[in-house]
Amino acid sequence: MLRIAVIVSGGGTNLQALIDRMERKELGDVNIEVVISNRKDAYALERAKKHGIATATIIKKDYANQQEFEEAFMAILEQYKVNFIVLAGCLMMIPESIVNRYENRIINIHPSLIPSFCGDGYYGLKVHEAALKRGVKITGATVHFVDAGCDTGPIILQKAVPVYQEDTPEILQKRVMEQAEWEILPKAVRMIADGLVKVENEKVRILK
Ligand code: GRF
Repeated sequence: MLRIAVIVSGGGTNLQALIDRMERKELGDVNIEVVISNRKDAYALERAKKHGIATATIIKKDYANQQEFEEAFMAILEQYKVNFIVLAGCLMMIPESIVNRYENRIINIHPSLIPSFCGDGYYGLKVHEAALKRGVKITGATVHFVDAGCDTGPIILQKAVPVYQEDTPEILQKRVMEQAEWEILPKAVRMIADGLVKVENEKVRILK
């Protein structure tokens, strides 16, 4: 069974997609044990509370140094016996100590077709502003394993959506979330829960 921590920073629509499928028994042998945020005001925390899911906040500036921050972060994960981590609208770099401890057991949803429009500085609306500025005709979302880099881990799933001439960043973000993110993130969790996802030579192989 996957005992999941979902790490959030914002509105939590991707978290909501996971919760909805979990409650419909469509997520596989999975339980969201805790939702963790680096922001006390993240609406995603309210979404978790409405569904009786435990929440926690971990804010780096509340700690004297990096080591105490990482120890507090790890303590939350251990408290809930977490064995898998999902970053869903997470705007916090996950400490390397945690990435190493949870090697190939952390996934992230990024709102572009990696390797386009990803890495440092590409998050939220900035991703869609860059896509529109470049004039791409398709964009989309990517679910990938998290490694020590930024948006650089092995890719699990991607889904493309069209870009239209009259799109604004907000309109495009909404289409990517509704038609891509909210579909492929739960799908990836289900596939992993079902044991269908393997990482070999830093590439993902999906078992049929
Ligand atoms: C979305 O664009 C998501 O792709 C990105 O953060 C934004 C907010 O996501 N990672 P959510 O509504 O908080 O899930």
